[in-house]
Amino acid sequence: MKGIILAGGSGTRLYPLTMGQSKQLLAIHDKPMIYYPLSVLMLAGIRDILIISTPEDLPNFKRLLSDGSQIGMRFSYEKQEKPNGIAEAFIIGEKFIQNDSVCLILGDNIFYGSGFTKILKNSVEFVEKNYKAKVFGYYVNNPSRYGVVQNDRLGNVLSLEEKPENPKSNYAVVGLYIYPNSVIKISKYILPSERGELEITSINNLYLKEKKLKVELFDKNFTWLDSGTHESMLEASNYIHTIEKRTGLKIACIEEIAYKLGYINKSKFEKLINSIGENQYGEYLKKIINGV
Ligand code: DAU
Repeated sequence: MKGIILAGGSGTRLYPLTMGQSKQLLAIHDKPMIYYPLSVLMLAGIRDILIISTPEDLPNFKRLLSDGSQIGMRFSYEKQEKPNGIAEAFIIGEKFIQNDSVCLILGDNIFYGSGFTKILKNSVEFVEKNYKAKVFGYYVNNPSRYGVVQNDRLGNVLSLEEKPENPKSNYAVVGLYIYPNSVIKISKYILPSERGELEITSINNLYLKEKKLKVELFDKNFTWLDSGTHESMLEASNYIHTIEKRTGLKIACIEEIAYKLGYINKSKFEKLINSIGENQYGEYLKKIINGV
């Protein structure tokens, strides 16, 4: 399975913060926002990742993440000329995906909760075995801001709507989508919505129509945050800070994950720590390598 991180968009909601740089490179507490979705793909066992961003911002992502080999990953980069919609990721990524299945994650989505790695692995396996799509729902108090999924009591999906005025449930569809290879064809087939975007919800609705869509609802004790406004960025930073301080463990520390998953050996990890230098983040990594 391949992975795509969509990290473009105009970022106007965060102006002036994003007038000089990409939203997905802004800090969420102690690390760039993109580390959070990147860590999710790593935990899903995906090592080939395409990062899509604007022509202006792409060089900065390359500067931060390079070709990925420093953490045992393989990163590719593609531009999205304009924010034409989330579903355009599969058209831009066609050559990268080739004949594989693909997991798309939005560059501003943050996930945290116990059992998540298992859910990810099971979902990847489900899509690869059944050639069906898999998306996830999360209970929120403001569903109109999101794609909304309505289920019946048996867990069958009844409807999927993008930012409905009168949502049929409180379950938002989160920015993590796993598809079989047919998503490339489907993304070329759908038409732009009224707001002129190729909507991910249109793709999901087509899979639903063909009875090839599975929706898993996350537990209420699971955390899903998006960081699209000043307030939600602050809340996300505070949340990560609180958990990291309490446990002494970092969330979405890609260097630690790479080492623990065996993607890099001890000497490569040491090199990585040296390149990060003498700071709090580096100190944390030193503790990890020393097994403290
Ligand atoms: O966060 C989950 C929600 O994401 C879903 O519930 C919705 O169904 C889905 O449409 C999307 O809604 P948003 O309103 O959050 O989408 P937004 O336009 O803000 O884009 C989400 C991220 O993707 C954002 O960080 C920018 C990036 N993006 C977006 C578009 C439309 C791109 O890189 N390119 C694009 O063309």
